[in-house]
Amino acid sequence: PEANKGYSYEDCKATADWLLAQTDVRPIVGIVCGSGLGGLADMLKDQVAFNYKDIPNFPQSTVHGHAGRLVFGTLKGRPCVCMQGRFHLYEGYPIQKITLPMRIFKLLGVETVMLTNAAGGLNQDFKVGDVMIIKDHLNMPGFAGNNPLAGPNDERFGVRFPCMSDAYDRELQQLAMDVGQELGYGDFLKEGVYCVLGGPSFETIAECRMLHKLGADAVGMSTAHEVIVARHCGMRVFALSLITNQAVMDYDSEEKANHEEVLQTGKQRAEQLERLVSTMVTKIEHN
Ligand code: 6GU
Repeated sequence: PEANKGYSYEDCKATADWLLAQTDVRPIVGIVCGSGLGGLADMLKDQVAFNYKDIPNFPQSTVHGHAGRLVFGTLKGRPCVCMQGRFHLYEGYPIQKITLPMRIFKLLGVETVMLTNAAGGLNQDFKVGDVMIIKDHLNMPGFAGNNPLAGPNDERFGVRFPCMSDAYDRELQQLAMDVGQELGYGDFLKEGVYCVLGGPSFETIAECRMLHKLGADAVGMSTAHEVIVARHCGMRVFALSLITNQAVMDYDSEEKANHEEVLQTGKQRAEQLERLVSTMVTKIEHN
């Protein structure tokens, strides 16, 4: 059907096979790098990299701070694939296009997906530079019918009505806490609920207050859609947010959310975040 054009199982399979024909790497971990956090991809050894524009069916990244490359390689011996740059609703893509890489990950053989993002802090106990392990999400676009699984369901990927109460793997959250403690990151490692909005405008003060009341600890413009599609096709998911700025909750505040601050904070914490994720990769059990 028309609704599946470019996103069908066969399309995803063709893209996966196209990629597999050009690299010997057989990734079991798929990583998605958030704004300013693309350095993780540079840690991969024996790289084979593809520009998004050269990959059949792939969208292109249009955001400053997102490189737009799919990088295959090994992280301390573990075969990985890494998205250096991701796609967002606010770029104007259909939501199925934003999440297409998750299905390609699945068909490449990926078992575990690890996602990072930059987010605004709503929890008043959070500080800029904190790293929040995501334990759950609020999918606000989904409430309005904008869910990446809307449309015909292909059972080869997963069931019509997938469960989301176990979306964020609890063992991987614990592993992140343990690895974080070992690395001495305990002071800035937090956990919480991530809320996704469509963007690209940042939230108003009233919106931030509302989201906080609804149980969100951080707010951003990505990740939850990818998580839904990754879970639908049975991959394990781990995700974390770098708190790059405090969302403005107060009419007396002089603070203003801006993308430059987001990238700047990313730079300062990037190395530690990369070490956390890469160390986790070496400790994840696979079938
Ligand atoms: Cl304050 N809001 C949203 N929606 N996304 C962000 C952010 C804020 N800070 C970084 N990303």
